[in-house]
Formats: sequence, structure tokens, C-alpha cells
Amino acid sequence: MELGERLFFEPRLSPSGKVLCATCHVPYRGWQDGRARAFGLAEADRNTQSLLNVRYQRWFGWDGAGDSLWAQSVRPMLDLREMGGSQAQAAALVRGDAELACRFEKVFGTPPPAADEAVLAGIGKALAAFQETLVSGRSPFDDFRDALSRGDFSSMKKYPEAAQRGLRIFVGRGNCSSCHVGPAFSNGEFHDTGVPFFIKGGADAGRHGGIRKLEANPFNLLGAYNDDRSGVSAIKTRQVDLQHRNFGEFKVPSLRNVAQTAPYMHNGSLATLAGVVRHYSEIDPDRLHSDGEALLKPLRLTTAESADLVAFLESLTETASALAPRRPSAACR
Ligand code: HEC
Ligand code: HEC
Repeated sequence: MELGERLFFEPRLSPSGKVLCATCHVPYRGWQDGRARAFGLAEADRNTQSLLNVRYQRWFGWDGAGDSLWAQSVRPMLDLREMGGSQAQAAALVRGDAELACRFEKVFGTPPPAADEAVLAGIGKALAAFQETLVSGRSPFDDFRDALSRGDFSSMKKYPEAAQRGLRIFVGRGNCSSCHVGPAFSNGEFHDTGVPFFIKGGADAGRHGGIRKLEANPFNLLGAYNDDRSGVSAIKTRQVDLQHRNFGEFKVPSLRNVAQTAPYMHNGSLATLAGVVRHYSEIDPDRLHSDGEALLKPLRLTTAESADLVAFLESLTETASALAPRRPSAACR
């Protein structure tokens, strides 16, 4: 975990010495950057995802191109627009830095190996261990839900009435909870919600491209670096099946702390929660896939109903962080 934390805040992972994981996953901004599209060495095509509760995800990235948290953590180091590094350069950093090499040996039981690819897998796994500690705190909605299940009506009253009305739309007429479901408000799957996916020079293929990248990635769970030799953890990866409908599908984002993570959608194209609610309220069914997306119909919400739905979404944001303050760790010996 400490090795991963150091690497997360390590500018030398990028050869420019200027871009670190925390450049885009900013701790005090809900572990994202507040930009429409990420900017490392250049502007990328997608919005930076928050890392809170990332340990509970099944697929990683907006397109699910990662099947493990550690494989997903390798991606930005090699992306030319993000950190612009290489396998050889990241491995040389860990081998050549006494502190990092010492911690690597403590975690993995061997000094950084000679094969660059193996060191990179180790870096990814250490980064994953750190990110697994990033979880969100309790929100007003959690207090309300618990009060409801205890039948504690006086505590329930602390939850704003607007949010209660918004909740009714969310689970009722809005049908939002058919995709935004469970503790993180995501079914972990991929859907088309009619967000345009044109990018400079083409289209963002979403899940369709994600599956291709997943299959080609030497760090996927079918590859040599999966520590689970039983093969059980790789079953879902083996079963992935590319379909035409995956084109333009993106991962259902968690809605925890959503008030802190504007702008929204895979391309950051919607600036506010009110804008997202308007998108769903006025959705154009012709822009959606003909199969599957019968889940989304234009809701034609009134101004008051829209405000209620926004109040509900805002109530999913933690009132206090669940994370311990960062403390510098003692030198490794
Ligand atoms: C230039 C900005 C930038 C940097 C630097 C960056 N990221 Fe990201 N991160 C993103 C973007 C954009 C996405 C969405 C990527 C996608 O959909 O393909 C993302 C997605 C992720 C995800 C997936 C989250 C999820 O819910 O699926 C993880 C994990 C992650 N990053 C970890 C890291 C780590 C670890 C580092 C440092 C090694 C890092 N990132 C550096 C911009 C960045
Ligand atoms: C068919 C599944 C589905 C349904 C139903 C659905 N969503 Fe979504 N939601 C998604 C997907 C997929 C995205 C990401 C789309 C993209 O980035 O292109 C998303 C994105 C969002 C976001 C942006 C979060 C972020 O971090 O960018 C919010 C907020 C949201 N939805 C709220 C709602 C509300 C409110 C409703 C009900 C009116 C709803 N959703 C109904 C699948 C769904």
C-alpha cells in the first residue's frame, strides 16, 4: 500500500517529470480533475473517472478495457497524452531508486526483476493496493435509508423533502435504478444513454473498442501476471463477447459523491447535474440503440421535479471523508 501511495504521487513515473496520477485524480476533488476531458501531456478524449470505491468495480475505464484494478493502473503510464512513459523507463525508475526498490522487495519478496514487463505489473499491483483504500464516507441518503429500515421517523425527517421526492422519481418513473443500482449506484455494466460519442477525427467506440483493447492487453487476467493461478478470476474475461451493440456503450458510473465530480459523462459534455437530468428528461429515443435501451424514455419532468431529482443526486455525496489523513511513512530499510 505504501509503495503504491508513493508511486501514485511520483512525478518521475512520467518521463516529463510533470504528470503524476494525482494530476488528474486529485485527492481533494473527489479523486478526479474537474475538467471535461483529462489533460496530461495533451488533452485526452475522455473525462477523468473518480477513484473512490474503485475497488468494487468489475471492469475499469469508461469502456471496461481493464479487467483488474492493477491492469487499469498501468494504462495511463504508457498513454502518450497522459503520462507518456514506457515500460523500460518505469522499470528503470523502480530499479534505480533505493527507496522504491527496497519497498518493491518488501512487497513482492524479490528485488525488481530484470524483465521490464514484470516490474510494470508489480507497479500496477502496488498502485491498486493503494487505490483499494479509497472509499467514500456516509451520505445523507445513507442516514435516511438506515433510519427508514429502523422505523426511526424523527431521523428520517432530517433528509430534505425535495430529496425524498427525487428518490421516488429515481426508483419509480425515472427508472434510473435499473442501471444505477446497488451500494455504488451502478450495475457495473455498459449502456448507451444517447450521449454523442464523436471525437476529433472519428468516434469513441466505447465498450466495443474496450473489448478489443482488453483482449489485446498482455496484462489482462488471462495473461501471465495474474496471481490467481486457479483461473477463476479470469472467467468473465474469457466470456467477453464482442457485439455490434457495444458500439457507443459506456460504463454506468457510480453516483456516490456525484456532486463533487462535475463535469459529467464519458466525455465531460454535461457541466452540471441539472444538465444531466435535462439530458434524461428530454432524451431523443432515435439516438438510442433500438435493442436494450427501452429503459430510457423522455421523462418530460417539470422544473420542480427536475430540481427534486438533482436534490436526490446531491444527497449521495459524503458529509465527511472516510479516509485517514495522509502521513509520510518512515524510510524503508
Ligand atoms: C492525464 C490524466 C490522467 C492521469 C495522469 C491518470 N489518469 Fe487515471 N483516468 C484518467 C481518465 C481519462 C480515465 C478514464 C479512462 C478511460 O475510460 O479509458 C481514468 C481512469 C482510471 C481508472 C479507472 C476507474 C474506473 O472507475 O473504472 C483507474 C483505476 C485509474 N484511472 C488509475 C490511475 C492511476 C493509478 C494513475 C497513475 C499511474 C492514473 N490513473 C493517471 C485520467 C488520468
Ligand atoms: C440504461 C442505463 C441507465 C439508466 C436507465 C440511467 N442511467 Fe445514468 N448513466 C448511465 C450511463 C451508461 C452513464 C454514462 C454515459 C456516458 O458517459 O456516455 C450514465 C451517467 C449518469 C450520470 C453522470 C455521472 C458521471 O459521473 O459522469 C448521472 C448523474 C446519471 N447517469 C444519473 C441518472 C439518472 C438521474 C437517471 C434517471 C433519470 C439515470 N441516470 C438513468 C446509464 C443509465
